[in-house]
Amino acid sequence: MTIYFSGTGNTRHCAIRLAELLGESVHELSADELRDPASSVADTDSGRVIWAFPTYSWGMPPVVADYMANAGLSDKARQATHYMLTTCGDDMGYTDRQWRRILSKRGLTTAGAYAVTMPNTYTLMKGFDVDSPELAQAKVAASAERMALIAKAILEGGADMPIRGSFPRIKSSVIYPWFKRFAMSPKPFHTNAGCTACGLCSRVCPMGNISPGADGTPEWGEDCALCLRCYHSCPRRAICYGKATDGKGQWLLK
Ligand SMILES: Cc1cc2nc3c(=O)[nH]c(=O)nc-3n(C[C@H](O)[C@H](O)[C@H](O)COP(=O)(O)O)c2cc1C
Ligand code: SF4
Ligand code: SF4
Repeated sequence: MTIYFSGTGNTRHCAIRLAELLGESVHELSADELRDPASSVADTDSGRVIWAFPTYSWGMPPVVADYMANAGLSDKARQATHYMLTTCGDDMGYTDRQWRRILSKRGLTTAGAYAVTMPNTYTLMKGFDVDSPELAQAKVAASAERMALIAKAILEGGADMPIRGSFPRIKSSVIYPWFKRFAMSPKPFHTNAGCTACGLCSRVCPMGNISPGADGTPEWGEDCALCLRCYHSCPRRAICYGKATDGKGQWLLK
């Protein structure tokens, strides 16, 4: 069983491909599961659980880390071997160490950790933007071969295939905690004059975090994963994050 969280479709694409290659099923974490992990039970229909999620600031999306730490576990999930699959625009640092720590604390058996480079989605700081359409398509195309290698590694015993990048210790141990504390607030989200109050952003939010205000335009709550599905889905490019997203592009893998 591959249990996944995906903001903009990259991880969903890879999770589904991996499940096909391994002949297993997939489960997308729902808003209810992410908002109240303790009331849900993680399960598997095989001897494996593959946890799939995007890399956020060289660590795990906090909502996924919280789910893994607090969700109930079926007997099969307790006895299973656990694997990690992360998608990243560039590199994952030591994201796997965080993932392993959480599961080891629960007494679970972990095996391989895998990373795939996919189109970048982070646009919320100066200097960060989506990839060119050519680079994005090239990354998606190259992921097919990478997923085949990952499936083979899992079937042959689970050797790690990380993408660490440069300075992984600083990125994961210093920048990640800073980012989590100071750069993940949904407060800067707002709309520009292009918003037509169509409601799409609210319908697609995986956390159920967006509701219509008095004039029908979106209002953001506090339960935000910062996955950027709202920003990348808006057909009018009307979602802004402070001024950081001015002139930035969009990416969504359907
Ligand atoms: C909040 C946030 C932080 C990110 N941090 C990183 C990062 O540290 N390293 C990286 O290579 N990509 C980073 N990215 C890019 C995503 O990991 C990458 O685009 C991923 O494939 C998105 O997956 P998804 O489409 O399943 O949401 C970040 C994206 C977001 C939204
Ligand atoms: S998707 Fe865009 S246009 Fe539609 S309500 Fe949301 S911000 Fe407005
Ligand atoms: S509000 Fe936007 S960024 Fe936050 S969880 Fe929902 S879709 Fe993702």
